[in-house]
Amino acid sequence: MIRVAFYDTKDYDRESFEHLGERNQIEFRFFETKLNKDTVRLSKGSDAVCVFVNDIVDKDVIESLYEYGVKLIALRSAGYNNVDLGAAEGKVRVVRVPAYSPYAVAEHAIALLLTSVRRIHKAYNRTREFNFSLRGLIGFDFYGKTVGVIGTGKIGRIFINICNGFGMKVIAYDPYPAIDSDIHYVELEKLLSESDIISLHCPLNEETRHIIDAKAIDNMKKGVVIVNTSRGGLIDAKALLEGIKTRKIGAACLDVYEEEAEVFFEDRSGHILNDDLLLRLISMPNVIVTSHQAFLTKEALNNIAETTVENIVCCLKKEVKCENELRLS
Ligand code: NAI
Repeated sequence: MIRVAFYDTKDYDRESFEHLGERNQIEFRFFETKLNKDTVRLSKGSDAVCVFVNDIVDKDVIESLYEYGVKLIALRSAGYNNVDLGAAEGKVRVVRVPAYSPYAVAEHAIALLLTSVRRIHKAYNRTREFNFSLRGLIGFDFYGKTVGVIGTGKIGRIFINICNGFGMKVIAYDPYPAIDSDIHYVELEKLLSESDIISLHCPLNEETRHIIDAKAIDNMKKGVVIVNTSRGGLIDAKALLEGIKTRKIGAACLDVYEEEAEVFFEDRSGHILNDDLLLRLISMPNVIVTSHQAFLTKEALNNIAETTVENIVCCLKKEVKCENELRLS
């Protein structure tokens, strides 16, 4: 039996993982708490830990895992910016789920965008109160608008296909352009200055942290709509708020937020939120925030569970090379 300490558990995780565990002789020990230096001791006696986007897998945590004999860190996500791969090298193997449903994320980005631009969230609330006024609900056509896509990997390319369906003009920036495509690549500065809508689909790393900062916003068209379904750290949230206050940014659609770890995924409705920046952003009429839910479809959850279990079996039972293993180089 393989023992796996499963951190940051939600009900939907139990549903998708429990039966797969039984079938593959894996005992999942479900913990609602996130992994960090204070909770790492819960993994004592486990062969692996299974973690999500807001678990902190830094050098200290990895040292403890190594000391406890934990052999594998199985990420239930594609992004791995929360894991110190350098510290894990030669000590604990790291696997991830590189793609579970890029459609889920790309479609959520479009859902946010349409909601924001066509003011659906406002209209929904109004008609529920029998307010049928159209005041303040003017949107704009997607057709003919320029959308700038930063990052043209799996999700970015699906997002581009959907935008093409709307008849939008798509321009893209990626330091590693897709050679087998007809995507129109431009330099980042050009993308920032020409786009009516900008959508982020690149990973968070040292190069991309605050790729959208005050200088980038300064370079954008007045009224630009920014969509971020990738990672919060791609945007300097203070600069974003400033851009909204000065009316430079027309709207922001955020599924991720730099300081989301303490807030997202939980019901905080009865609490006083301490994050003034998030409060201010949420209070803006042209900002829509969802709680890192872009991945949340039935299909994606099934794929996450299946691939994670395959990764664990591959590394700990068959002890063979796993194609989803992450290494520094
Ligand atoms: P991917 O690895 O297929 O594509 C990422 C693309 O970004 C690649 O083409 C890469 O060349 C490009 N890139 C790297 N550095 C860049 C830079 N400096 N500027 C512009 N582009 C750069 O990844 P995928 O599957 O498309 O996912 C993209 C991101 O979406 C992930 O890194 C993750 O952070 C996020 N994500 C968010 C989810 C959510 O629920 N909100 C769920 C899944 C992923």
